[in-house]
Amino acid sequence: MMTLGIETSCDETSMAVVEDGRRILSNIILSQMIHTEFGGVVPEVASREHLKTITPIYRQALSKAGVSLKQINLIAATMGPGLVGPLLVGLSFAKGLAFAAHIPFIAVNHMEGHLAANILEHPDLDPHHLTLIVSGGHTMLVEVRRFGEYEILGKTKDDAAGEAFDKVAKLMGLGYPGGAEVDRLAREGNPQYYRFPRAMRKEGYYFSFSGLKTAVSLYLNKLDRATFEKHQADIAASFQEAVVEILVEKTVRAAQEKNIRHVTISGGVAANSRLRNLMTEKLKHVNKYLFYPSPVLCTDNAAMIAAAGFYRFEKEGPGEFISEAVPYLKLQ
Ligand SMILES: Nc1ncnc2c1ncn2[C@@H]1O[C@H](COP(=O)(O)OP(=O)(O)OP(=O)(O)O)[C@@H](O)[C@H]1O
Ligand SMILES: [Mg+2]
Repeated sequence: MMTLGIETSCDETSMAVVEDGRRILSNIILSQMIHTEFGGVVPEVASREHLKTITPIYRQALSKAGVSLKQINLIAATMGPGLVGPLLVGLSFAKGLAFAAHIPFIAVNHMEGHLAANILEHPDLDPHHLTLIVSGGHTMLVEVRRFGEYEILGKTKDDAAGEAFDKVAKLMGLGYPGGAEVDRLAREGNPQYYRFPRAMRKEGYYFSFSGLKTAVSLYLNKLDRATFEKHQADIAASFQEAVVEILVEKTVRAAQEKNIRHVTISGGVAANSRLRNLMTEKLKHVNKYLFYPSPVLCTDNAAMIAAAGFYRFEKEGPGEFISEAVPYLKLQ
């Protein structure tokens, strides 16, 4: 069964063709570069960019996959969470196409898409697993009983992990979005150079990153230019260590307390090299296993949306054409 996935929740226009929820035939991703000059995503500009590129991206996704619209059996599009304008562009395109071509349509929760990236790529992943979703807008620890059945164990009380990476990158003059750049720089630095605070260490599975961001800001304000330049990599590594340590500590604890053997990470921050390495190592100590998606399936992409749409369709059949864009859609 061939699914066309459509993702436009933020600043990536993406379309993918995925066979049987497992085999990616194409996954075209266009990141809107226009926002770098503003230092963050401008919603109205993002909507207009999606409008301009959505049709060419659609054609490219089909041609790269070597299929025609007639061979598509399901159209899946992100309905939320995300920016309402950008969501509406992808969702309306998907509904129009599905309606005109008499193809079943299904609306997808973007966070379910992120966690589905692991199911897509790892056939031996236990349907019952623990997942840490760490993206630009979310940080949540979720027990997945099986696809579609979730218990949210904890989430962030303020900023998301990816947001903290982006804000610190901005403070350090590394551009936007800067998570990957912090990761790259941190590889050359000493993570023990400065000890930034680890917040809410004891508070169950909840997270908080806004205090850390402020701590980095205050620390940078006190530094002279020469010291900053000499120790940039050390500062990036020390900040990254503070985020990663907390994420790993709570995830490993949850896996032990809930007695779950398979753990996944997903979302943009799951591409972080230190998070992947430390989490793998600490889970191994307690006889548990970590799975993570390829970097291209960590950040926003339509292949994960096609996969999630296909798994939902297998469970519940087609969705409703009346599905609306829901900016604050919850995972349930
Ligand atoms: N190697 C990396 N290390 C740390 N952070 C990273 C890395 N690569 C990407 N990121 C961060 O991942 C985030 C983007 O991830 P993603 O595309 O999943 O978020 P989003 O779609 O904007 O948010 P959400 O999925 O919550 O709506 C950005 O904050 C980015 O800085
Ligand atoms: Mg995302």
